Amino acid sequence: ISNPSAGRMPAQQWSTRLAFVLVAAGAAVGLGNIWKFPYIAGENGGGAFVLVYLACIAVLGLPLLMAEVLIGRRGQQNPVNSMAALAQEAGASPLWKNVGRLGVLTGFLLLSFYVVVAGWALAYIPLTASGVFAQLQPAEIGQQFDAHLHNPWVLIGWGTLVLVLTLGIVGRGVRSGLEKAANLLMPLLFLFLVILVGFAASSGHFAQAAAFMFSPDFSKLSASGILLALGHAFFTLSIGGGAMMVYGSYLPKSVSIVRTSILIAILDTAAALLAGMAIFPIVFAHGLEPAGGPGLIFVTLPIAFGQMPFGTLFGTLFFVMLSVAALTSAFSLIEPAIAWLTEKRGMSRLKACLLGGGGIWLLSLGTVFSFNIGADWTLAGKTFFEALDYLTSGWMLPLGALCMALFTAWVMKPEHTAEELGARKGVLRIWLRLMRYLVPVIILVIFLQAVGVIAL
Ligand code: PFF
Ligand code: NA
Repeated sequence: ISNPSAGRMPAQQWSTRLAFVLVAAGAAVGLGNIWKFPYIAGENGGGAFVLVYLACIAVLGLPLLMAEVLIGRRGQQNPVNSMAALAQEAGASPLWKNVGRLGVLTGFLLLSFYVVVAGWALAYIPLTASGVFAQLQPAEIGQQFDAHLHNPWVLIGWGTLVLVLTLGIVGRGVRSGLEKAANLLMPLLFLFLVILVGFAASSGHFAQAAAFMFSPDFSKLSASGILLALGHAFFTLSIGGGAMMVYGSYLPKSVSIVRTSILIAILDTAAALLAGMAIFPIVFAHGLEPAGGPGLIFVTLPIAFGQMPFGTLFGTLFFVMLSVAALTSAFSLIEPAIAWLTEKRGMSRLKACLLGGGGIWLLSLGTVFSFNIGADWTLAGKTFFEALDYLTSGWMLPLGALCMALFTAWVMKPEHTAEELGARKGVLRIWLRLMRYLVPVIILVIFLQAVGVIAL
């Protein structure tokens, strides 16, 4: 284990504060905001779910984001070595490095289904651009998506393309890969998002969508909906999985973790709410079902775009935007593993990409098959894809986040966390209280109610 204070070379760091905000927002804003958030909000009754989700972001997500970035920046290495170095610095058990290992593993599992869904988005770019949706009946558009899912070769092909694009960028390294891509893609992504909200506002039921998303009806929120909202708060901010930790390890010491974290959380939340306001007006305007499940945006939106003026153009734009968002998040899911393989195992970046990518590709077949030939290989009623999603978002990310909260609050010295956060005393005190008590207690309570030990 090298000395945490040794630090990374400047070439291994983000070049500016803005660069960090863009890569980290790239990691955060992804399928979670545009694909997952609308459909799980739709399935869980809208407003009440959105409110719990927003509360989870503010009370748990934001301070945890600071904690994770802080560990990375002080550790100055991949998540496994950073945890080991900081445990050593604090005179604590070396077992803490397992939190880093858990993060690497979580990113790996997540990416294996993330590339498949991102592949749907990529496939829908040429499909939408072809103008075919203007010619099909709504039922046929639904059948089109089903047919897409039913062909494993098609899913493997598009998923592989996503993985190759991801590795092509990540393989170039921190500055010329990750940072350059985010500089180019993130402004584009927000521009597209705003254009699409404008389009939805002009053509749809904006007020009805706003009411659906923001007026809470708590009778529609179940106990499992609360775990879902919590898990999604972690998923959407990319916390608990080592992604923000490894990005934090590339952060120069001069940049404020508190201020950049706030900005990142705001950008991610804005993206989710904008995505909702781009999607639900169209869903309602065409009498479609908000609880449409994972296929929501792949079925309802093409139906709507097929009937609207300029629908082909805006529909294509939508799937370009979705693909861009997915790609910049995919980078962050594999970077913990790449950093670990290069720094701990001494591999070249290329070799690490090939090895990590190969493993993810193999595992992605499980998700691919869960939509076709393996649709009835189920565990507790969940397909492989559903089980993986539930395991990672519902359990592994919150568990990783819980460990990071305990580590920064109870193991690291308050002088050290204060040094990294560099905030005012009052802010530091609130942050430490949250990490020590409220955050661990809330995560534990939600775990216990999810397994049925307690009833909320
Ligand atoms: N935050 C990403 C999204 O909302 O799509 C997904 C994600 C990326 C989760 C990186 C976890 C992670 F470590
Ligand atoms: Na997100």
